[in-house]
Amino acid sequence: MAQNQSSVPASPQRFPLMALALTALLAGLWGGLLRIGWAWPVHPPLVMGHGPLMVCGFLGTLIGVERAVALDRPWPWAAPALAGLGTLVLLAGGVGWLGPLLFSLGSAVLTLIFFVPRRPLHAYSATMALGAATWLVGNLLWLAGLPLWQVALWWAMFLVFTIAGERLELSRVLRLPPLATRLFVGVVAVLLTGLAVSVVEYDLGVRLLGVGMMLLAGWLARYDIARRTVRMTGLTRYIAAALLSGYVWLAVGGALAVVVGGMPAGPLYDATLHAVFVGFVLSMIFGHAPIIFPSVLRTPLVYTPWFYAPLVLLNASLLLRIAADLGGWFEARRVGGLLNEVALLLFLGMLAWSALRGRRTRLATGAPRPQPSQS
Ligand code: HEM
Repeated sequence: MAQNQSSVPASPQRFPLMALALTALLAGLWGGLLRIGWAWPVHPPLVMGHGPLMVCGFLGTLIGVERAVALDRPWPWAAPALAGLGTLVLLAGGVGWLGPLLFSLGSAVLTLIFFVPRRPLHAYSATMALGAATWLVGNLLWLAGLPLWQVALWWAMFLVFTIAGERLELSRVLRLPPLATRLFVGVVAVLLTGLAVSVVEYDLGVRLLGVGMMLLAGWLARYDIARRTVRMTGLTRYIAAALLSGYVWLAVGGALAVVVGGMPAGPLYDATLHAVFVGFVLSMIFGHAPIIFPSVLRTPLVYTPWFYAPLVLLNASLLLRIAADLGGWFEARRVGGLLNEVALLLFLGMLAWSALRGRRTRLATGAPRPQPSQS
């Protein structure tokens, strides 16, 4: 046992990188509150930096750390390190092209991670690789000067493909029928077509993406293992509930995209975008964190039913925000956005508390540390 543990390197570099990701998250959240209308102290780079900080600074860095921990070689750490540097540039409000350049390089390394250790690409790792590649293309378009409302579609698909790949991986035990795989490939083709079209015909591209998102939500709801595990108990049931609520929001985001079409700003843009970023992405984070964190932090988590509290608050506050977006009720929209953030911070607090309890229990019982996932 001791030998097994010592064979896994400690990767202490993950801590400063995760601290950078957390800084990007907090700064991005503050920027989100300013954007949604709270007249609180303003640091100008945070206002326009909200989207880049949330997607590239927070999630890009974190996903890079997760991949690098799994690969256990020095060079993949360049992915989160470059994204972390990009975060610092954004926060300093530095030169306009330097942030996009650093994120482009970071996402190029993340994409390479899937190809260089010459392992066979399975459906799940190919989907994650596609996610990294869409992040790269989005960052290059940003570097080339495309507006954020166009770039945001590529960023959304970075997260959607990465998450779909993780779900495929975790549902491997189900041995999907060949029809399911063919349908999945068809859905990915619709999404990629929507992305490509959006660069030249924004409105049509957004509507096509919307169709793809609804199809993907339907596919996940039908084939994901969550449909079965939601009938179990404890942590397994909580994770399934988070995932299934995420699929509903992905379908809502898709439907809004089909109906509303391409918007450069405003409440309808906010509703479409955040049904995906908050409803789908954050629900999936709430569901996946209890699986991923133990392997990245190498500390077990202790589950409590209180995990449902932030999940319920997230769903209820997003419902309020999107209803207010559609109804033009600006005060309710502001409150909904604020409560979205309270839900996320509450969840992070629960995660920290449960990791501390898990660590205490592990030390008391002498149980081994959780190992990094090798996929
Ligand atoms: C949790 C609370 C959040 C609030 C209050 C918030 C607020 C906002 C607002 C008001 C906008 C501008 C919409 C408009 O033009 O009317 C925006 C845009 C955007 N948000 Fe969020 N957001 C939140 C969460 C997130 C999350 C979790 C992500 C990504 C994971 C994200 C990514 C983006 C992106 C990419 C844009 C578009 C880029 C831009 O226009 O700057 N947001 N957000």
